[in-house]
Amino acid sequence: MTHSRTGNLSGNVCEPTATANALAAVVRGRPRLGLILGSGFGGVARAVTLERSFNYEELKGFPKGRVAGHDGQLLIGKLGDVDVIVLAGRAHFYEGFNLDEVTFPIRVLAAFGLDTVLLTNAAGGISPALRAGDFMILRDHINFMGVNPLRGVVSEGSSGNVEPSRFTDMTEAYDPELRRILRAVARSQRLRVVEGVYLAVSGPSYETPAEIRAFGRLGASAVGMSTVAEVIVARQCGLRVAALSGITNLAAGRAGPGVRLSHEEVLAQAHSREVVATQLVAEFARRWNLLV
Ligand code: HPA
Repeated sequence: MTHSRTGNLSGNVCEPTATANALAAVVRGRPRLGLILGSGFGGVARAVTLERSFNYEELKGFPKGRVAGHDGQLLIGKLGDVDVIVLAGRAHFYEGFNLDEVTFPIRVLAAFGLDTVLLTNAAGGISPALRAGDFMILRDHINFMGVNPLRGVVSEGSSGNVEPSRFTDMTEAYDPELRRILRAVARSQRLRVVEGVYLAVSGPSYETPAEIRAFGRLGASAVGMSTVAEVIVARQCGLRVAALSGITNLAAGRAGPGVRLSHEEVLAQAHSREVVATQLVAEFARRWNLLV
């Protein structure tokens, strides 16, 4: 698969296949499950028995730059008995990266030959059913970022056909079977979990209470600033997708008048659930491995 690109492509014209091949040349493991760790899921990285790790700076085409709570490392190793590749930390649109840069690591994972990705994030709860500390399995999403990562991307197959398509189907982006596994694992670990709709905004400001009321009426259960661009690209590349939000706060206005949001509190809440989040992801990986 080659990606020739036109349009709004500042900077990142590196081929994902070249980076994937460079990785494959230096590691033994051939994981088929990828884990993308957002805030609150960093414990997963520490639970991996490492074969190799790379700073994003070492990987051609990977976005450089960080925000608090994100490491910027690609890990290859085992989570329990399962071979995994882990993206510990992600680039965000709100940091100034364009979506080509944000989603480049996903294209590398696809080119590396993965079957499935589990994306994780921190999110604010919009649904009355959600409280801080809960988890939400993504059933669907609303892309409210105002941009789409496939804009300007032309992907041509070797036969000259335009394949995979920029007009990617998103009807069942979140794999029903993987969602079933996540539900079963959450139940077995007695976690408070709901399935819901994740709405992505560009950020970085938090939302106003009026926006949150509007998003609720649109059908959103939770709100965050990541994940959907990666999911769109993952689906374009044919990866099976599951995604999980750790609910770190009630979305703006939901906690009552005058209750404000702070990034530090969001991160503190995220970290307080890291052990539980790690167990959830590890058990998901174990059951996924029995399935494939
Ligand atoms: N809004 C947007 N992104 C978030 C939130 C929120 O309330 N909490 C964690 N990430």
